[in-house]
Parts: sequence; structure tokens; C-alpha cells
Amino acid sequence: MTNFQIKEDARREAFEAIWESKINAVFADVAATYDKANDFASLGMLKGLRRRFIASIDVQPGQRVLDVCAGTNVIGIELLKKQPELDVYAVDRSDAMQRVGKERALRQGFDIKGHICDVHKLPFPDNHFDAVTLQYATRHLRVIDVFLEINRVLKPGGKFYHFDMLRPANKLIEEIYCLYLKGCLSAISWAIRSGPDAMACHNYFVDAIRLFYSTEELSRLLSELGFDDVTGRSLLGGTVAIHKACKT
Ligand SMILES: C[S@@+](CC[C@H](N)C(=O)[O-])C[C@H]1O[C@@H](n2cnc3c(N)ncnc32)[C@H](O)[C@@H]1O
Repeated sequence: MTNFQIKEDARREAFEAIWESKINAVFADVAATYDKANDFASLGMLKGLRRRFIASIDVQPGQRVLDVCAGTNVIGIELLKKQPELDVYAVDRSDAMQRVGKERALRQGFDIKGHICDVHKLPFPDNHFDAVTLQYATRHLRVIDVFLEINRVLKPGGKFYHFDMLRPANKLIEEIYCLYLKGCLSAISWAIRSGPDAMACHNYFVDAIRLFYSTEELSRLLSELGFDDVTGRSLLGGTVAIHKACKT
């Protein structure tokens, strides 16, 4: 039992209804414009941050890699550009996001094997992947359950690479960051004419950061769940971080 169970219970109590009934509709609503909206929200910094994440991932020809909550397959595609001889799998609950992702991958000559499912139960055997990636989705998940699933499907010695927006450890940065996020979400929703589900989730997207993990907390959680050699690199004042962890 990890010390973070209380935090997870609080997140679940606060957000489970949204996770179950709204998140899928939100991503269906934004699927076609998701990548552009992300670029806008990050003031164009997203590509540079993604490059750093991809550069931190060690992949070798012939390895089997899983991208969890793959969305529009941005990570799978970048990994295949870096190492074309990978066997890349993607899992996501959103058919709409994966349809966009499948098309994008095919247009660039890549085959990514997509599975539509809830990632709290991964449809793969134990010890199956050399590497697992998870970018920009952990706030919407029961973190302990999903990280344990990721540990299960990784081969011994396999690596988990995580990149996400986190809760800055500094309270002042957190306040400024949340104000900025609120403004961004309003602007994007207006620009892409979001539907009612996305509109209803504005507060959720900010609250999910406030109840989320800091870089250091996420490192400790990964260690407590049995991962080894955990590293967490804070960027942009701890608003985002790259974590790397190894299955023993
Ligand atoms: C913000 S997007 C990130 C997509 C992609 N990883 C990226 O970096 O662009 C979050 C994704 O998580 C997926 N997702 C959220 N909760 C999920 C769940 N319980 N099971 C599977 N996918 C989920 C959504 O469908 C969405 O595609």
C-alpha cells in the first residue's frame, strides 16, 4: 500500500463522475483540432518540449513499444521517425482521437497498432513491452492502477517514460499557472466552438492540476509502486516534467 492512496482516493472522489461521463465526449469534440489547440495553449513550446521527451527515450530496432492514452498518435509517430524499426502499439479510449491518429500515421507511412480500450486494464500479457510511454493524460486516470498495469506489461528491465503537466511545487507558480490555464481554455473553446461537454469541463481541467502530483511526488509514487532508477526532470517551473522509471 503506497502513502499516496489517500491522495488517489481524493482525486477519485472529486473527478470520477467526469472521468466516466464527460472526458470521452470532450476528446471526441476536439479530436480534429486537438494538435493545433495544444500548440496554441503552450504558446508554441509544445514541439520543443516533445522533442526533449522523445530525445530522452531509448529505443532499439525491433523493440516493442506501447503508447498509453495515445490520442492522435503524436508520440508513436515521433518514435517511429526516430527508430523506424519499432513495433508500436497504441491504446486509447477515444475512437475519434485514434481515427485521427491512425490517418496521420498512415499518411507518413507508419503502421501503429491501435486498441480502443480503457487503460485501467491493458489488453496485453505480462512482460510484453520494452518501453511504455504516457504523455498528457495521467490527470484523467486512477494513477496507481494505471502505473501498476504499465509495470505489469513491461518486460523486466523495460522502461516507462512519462511526460505531463504537473502541479508546481511552488504555490505562487501554481496560482499563476492555473490562471493562465483558465484563460487558455476559454480562448481555445471559443476559437474551436467547443460543445457543451468541453465547456462544462473548464473548471475540471484546472482543478485536476491542483489535486495532481508535483515532480518530486510523482517520482516517489513510482518508486513506491516498485519501479527502479526513477528520475524526474522538472521543466518550466515544475509545470511540466519528464519522468523515467525502470521495471526491475
Ligand atoms: C490530452 S490527450 C493526450 C493524447 C496524447 N498522449 C498526446 O500527448 O497528444 C488525453 C488522451 O487520454 C485518453 N484517455 C483519457 N482517459 C482514458 C482512459 N481511462 N482510458 C483510455 N484513454 C483515456 C483520451 O481519450 C485522450 O486521447
